[in-house]
Amino acid sequence: MASLNDIRTAFLDFFRSKGHQIMASSPLVPQNDPTLMFTNAGMVQFKNVFTGAQTPPEPPRAVTSQKCVRAGGKHNDLDNVGYTARHHTFFEMLGNFSFGDYFKAEAISHAWELLTRVFGIDAAKLIVTVYHTDEEARGLWRKIAGLSDDRIISIPTNDNFWSMGDTGPCGPCSEIFYDHGEHIWGGVPGSAEEDGDRWIEIWNLVFMQFERHADGSQTSLPKPSIDTGMGLERVSAVLQGVHDNYDIDLFRTLIAASESLTGVKAEGDQRASHRVIADHIRASSFLIADGVTPSNEGRGYVLRRIMRRAMRHAHMLGASEPLLHRLAPVLIQEMGGAYSELRRAEAFITSTLEQEEVRFRRTLGRGLSLLDEESAALSQGQELSGQAAFQLYDTYGFPVDLTQDVLRARGIGVDMAGFHAAMDEQKALARAAWSGSGAAGTDAVWLSLKDQYGGSEFLGYGQDEASGQVLAIVVDGAEIGELSAGQEGELVFNQTPFYAESGGQAGDKGKIQFDTGAIFEVYDTQKRAGTIHGHKGRLIQGHIKVGDAASLTIDLDRRTAIRANHSATHLLHAALQNVLGPHVTQKGSLVEAERLRFDFAHGCGLTRSEIDAIEAEVNAVIRQNTKATTRLMTPDEAIEEGAMALFGEKYGDEVRVLAMGRKLNQTPKSYSVELCGGTHVSRTGDIGSFVIVSEGAVAAGVRRIEAATGQAALDHLKGEAAIARAAAEPLKAQLPDLPARIEALMGERKRLEKELTDAKQKLALGGSGDGAKAVEEINGIKLDARILDGIGAKDLRPMVNEAIQKLGQGVVAYIACADGKAAIAVASTIASVSAVDLVKAGVFAMGGQGGGGRPDFAQGGAPTDAQAAAGLEAVMQAMA
Ligand code: ALA
Repeated sequence: MASLNDIRTAFLDFFRSKGHQIMASSPLVPQNDPTLMFTNAGMVQFKNVFTGAQTPPEPPRAVTSQKCVRAGGKHNDLDNVGYTARHHTFFEMLGNFSFGDYFKAEAISHAWELLTRVFGIDAAKLIVTVYHTDEEARGLWRKIAGLSDDRIISIPTNDNFWSMGDTGPCGPCSEIFYDHGEHIWGGVPGSAEEDGDRWIEIWNLVFMQFERHADGSQTSLPKPSIDTGMGLERVSAVLQGVHDNYDIDLFRTLIAASESLTGVKAEGDQRASHRVIADHIRASSFLIADGVTPSNEGRGYVLRRIMRRAMRHAHMLGASEPLLHRLAPVLIQEMGGAYSELRRAEAFITSTLEQEEVRFRRTLGRGLSLLDEESAALSQGQELSGQAAFQLYDTYGFPVDLTQDVLRARGIGVDMAGFHAAMDEQKALARAAWSGSGAAGTDAVWLSLKDQYGGSEFLGYGQDEASGQVLAIVVDGAEIGELSAGQEGELVFNQTPFYAESGGQAGDKGKIQFDTGAIFEVYDTQKRAGTIHGHKGRLIQGHIKVGDAASLTIDLDRRTAIRANHSATHLLHAALQNVLGPHVTQKGSLVEAERLRFDFAHGCGLTRSEIDAIEAEVNAVIRQNTKATTRLMTPDEAIEEGAMALFGEKYGDEVRVLAMGRKLNQTPKSYSVELCGGTHVSRTGDIGSFVIVSEGAVAAGVRRIEAATGQAALDHLKGEAAIARAAAEPLKAQLPDLPARIEALMGERKRLEKELTDAKQKLALGGSGDGAKAVEEINGIKLDARILDGIGAKDLRPMVNEAIQKLGQGVVAYIACADGKAAIAVASTIASVSAVDLVKAGVFAMGGQGGGGRPDFAQGGAPTDAQAAAGLEAVMQAMA
């Protein structure tokens, strides 16, 4: 039996033998489309090639096995997964592509050859559909596959006209169906029973001919092309002789692992839970490997919903400990060979899964009881109140589709209108609270300025100095007409070279010189209402009013350092992805003159060798000294250039794209390409040098690097060298010998300490200082009571233990005095004499606060050793 991995390889190899280039799956987070939540078909990475916006590869044919997620967004299969034979949140789409090269005839002929000759599927079990007007495709199926007309079914609906979304490439398609046999209910496509499970679509051949535009119009593509999609799981089921996708080798392995971890068989009611877990562990692991982390927004929320749905099913199976992270290694074992990103991100995947499960388990049980209570009185066909669903969401972290999933088995729905109303109400409350705050009052000024002037024109990409005219002076949230010497305020100009803090880059400082001779010192520049640059500072001399003209000059040394740090942040980001893996995504960034700080998703601390590799890579790109190129383009063009796009970000008509460095493997592509509105160096060499100053954790799964560039990097290294020299000097050691010398000294010190302790103990025990008593008998009990001078509390216990051993039967009471403090320890082998009582008596007499322990050994202390003799006396009294 061919395994899923073998079938994937056979598909890719077959099309390679037909002149196709095997191309890697693109990431699940689309790189060329900010409107698409997840890659959901094989053609997504080729969208712009089909439309002609991007040049096709040479030769213009490709074959891929593409990772796809259909959960959230336009295509969403999440609700069905677990309960059907073929729904998945994640699946692999096998596809061959022709970019204006071959068309229908060759696509049909390749597909037929692969299915019937290479895969050996019985031709009698296959039927096809064509779009009702596509006589050409019908004729080709007749001719190439020898199919009779009754096995070529015309479909007049959109089922046979494929489009990527509301816009984009589209065209008529022809689907190939496999007959799983008479024993399964269902009819051929287009028949009344088509929704049955007998005839299953295995391959969709799309004849790409048109591009659909936002206004609904359709234009012809430059060249007719081919896009095909075959679900790897479905074709594996056919080739492995099973009807159900969850019976193929991969899922059998995952379900077996889930069975053995829970000790529950995948039978009866439990079957769906195991299937949910097997499907969701795959989707979650692949998403995490592509840098998605659970959150309450966008893609992160879809991931969280998938993870929590699986976690609820693990809970239903009785799992008492987090389970999913223990299944990830099984998945990685199965699929890591074809998708190395899984292996690279293994630690990150398992820790992310575990943290999320631990977090969700804290509220899961209580949420489920609440749900039981709220739904107890409901019967089939009724709905849970929207308010209850909202409480489960808001307080217990139940995504609403999880609540629906729980109730579904009982045929109970959720009042979704009520749920959304409760959600809107909460948002309205939050808004009201916000608009009542002082911050909102201040915002009102800026919003009104924005209405009046639009925004400040930023000239600082090219100029460090520029002239401008005062549009407004804001003090304490209100516009005023004038400002006098000594007053603080915030100035707005029609244009400015001052960068306003955004995108992690600190705002500029500098000086504004008015034509009237007045001087305003800028401490900081902030972005107001999204478009206005507010220059915060103080008028040092003169008097200014709205309408005055001035010359604005930034603090150039500071900005130069900021530029170097900002550009280095981009290089660091690229190096982290190269060294640690593509799961490294930016979680936060701060760029100042003195340093840069970068937070990113990664599961564990960096090793010294990883840090060294990252520093080496960044410094190598710095030394390339290539031009940093900034270009303005449309968001689509930017994404096509490979710039990283953030889903959910609103892009204007134009974005800035910064590219730096050559790829280290010498390909002509840039080393780093990012969308960025910040200010940067002209050439990478301007960064000078780069050094990582610290690395640590900031939150679960998020690491932070602080680094320095240029002079600051040198200063940091020089500082460390100076520390090493200062350490070497008194030792009269050469720097290279320093570690060995320190190690030798530490060894020597340890030995001396031991000798000293031994000597002190001997001296104390043998000495006859004030109050020291020899062994005596009280009430027939042997007592060894002494004051030990110069012995610290930590050495006391072993000495008392040794003494009681020597004494055999009796009591040992020692008071140790060192550094002006006293410590007492008592050991007793006599049942009637409690060490605790003796310690208490001693401590009390010495002015301490008590002590404790067990009847056979106790200890305590006092803040002064002045009453040590009285302490010892009290112990003896207590014995008498
Ligand atoms: N793009 C086509 C599909 O997803 C092949 O079905």
